[in-house]
Amino acid sequence: MKTINLKTKQQNHPIHIGENVLTMLPGILETAKTGQKIAIVSNQTIWELHGETLLATFAESDYTLHIILIPDGESYKTMDTVQTILDTLIEKHFERKDVLLAFGGGVIGDMAGFAAAIYLRGIPFVQIPTTLLAQVDAAIGGKTGVNHPSGKNLIGAFYQPICTLVELSFLDTLPKKEVLCGLAEVVKYGIIGNTGLFKYLETHSEKIATLNIKDHHRLWEYIIRWSCGDKATIVSADEREAGLRENLNFGHTIGHGIESASHYTLYSHGEAVALGMKAALELAETGRLLDKKSTKRMTSLLKKLGFKTKLDSSVTTEAVIEGMRTDKKIRNGKLRFILPTALGTVVTIDDVTMDDVRIAVDNLHA
Ligand code: NAD
Ligand code: GLY
Repeated sequence: MKTINLKTKQQNHPIHIGENVLTMLPGILETAKTGQKIAIVSNQTIWELHGETLLATFAESDYTLHIILIPDGESYKTMDTVQTILDTLIEKHFERKDVLLAFGGGVIGDMAGFAAAIYLRGIPFVQIPTTLLAQVDAAIGGKTGVNHPSGKNLIGAFYQPICTLVELSFLDTLPKKEVLCGLAEVVKYGIIGNTGLFKYLETHSEKIATLNIKDHHRLWEYIIRWSCGDKATIVSADEREAGLRENLNFGHTIGHGIESASHYTLYSHGEAVALGMKAALELAETGRLLDKKSTKRMTSLLKKLGFKTKLDSSVTTEAVIEGMRTDKKIRNGKLRFILPTALGTVVTIDDVTMDDVRIAVDNLHA
């Protein structure tokens, strides 16, 4: 078991990673002097697979548990669903010290976190992520929120969990396409700063590309530890995304445009981010920030790990560019790109021309 500390101005937000980490939960809640009521937010898919494991954690304690199952899917990441969570908390008379526990992927974590942030102006919140994406990214760092019909994650709050418990065995049941989705964020950590992780991914690319976590716990534990450590370091330094945290948006600007242009159906978030990273690498090369050899090395890892590096012709360049316009990362009307200057080093550029973006997206079709 490994513990990583994410430190904000207010307090420590530990991330415990390993097997059987849920056994720590009663002790953590006791130390935090929380109330006796716990609302668990999850969905049917996760609950059927892993609900019993979570319930067993509380078998010998006196907590009163309320299970709130919400429909599965990004399309339910809405204010309406948050309202149903709040309704239950009100109906069950949850008080300031009672706990909201997110048990699921990023969709559950973002929504439960937001409900915890706004109910009684904030109640204790615990993250138990069950997807790779949530374990290495979404459940760490305190970004919570919901989508709006006009765009993704437009409504939300920064709200840190009292702890995040990363249980590796939950990933044994994760479909391969979801593993690939989380893997894109892992590659991102490698490119933006963690050259050790990048080299590890290169060395073990064949095993990793099988997307079989169950038979390779040790390998994935390294990957997850490294990723959580990177995210915790970045968020500890810049919780509100005033600077360094922006680096986490590498690949996400064009990736966001691709997701939007393909109506969030053709590509998973991770696949879109991988395509976005490829295009960003090209932009960096065009802008003479990055040499050809480095571009090739990074693109080649994406290919080896099984990411699509060609954009479907049905997703037009203009639609991708249009999709980028609703991006939260726009400042003063300018798109901001995180571009590598070498493996492990990135810069923020806000004067990339639309012509260059167009060429980079066009080339994804080639
Ligand atoms: P998700 O939460 O939709 O989960 C993907 C699918 O996997 C779902 O069908 C879910 O039911 C299923 N699932 C979850 N755990 C499982 C398990 N152990 N075994 C089998 N199936 C399982 O998707 P996600 O990729 O985890 O999260 C995506 C969301 O995260 C998006 O809404 C995105 O905006 C958000 N996000 C937030 C942050 C942040 O910093 N807060 C960062 C990245 C992404
Ligand atoms: N997923 C990007 C961030 O947390 O800032």
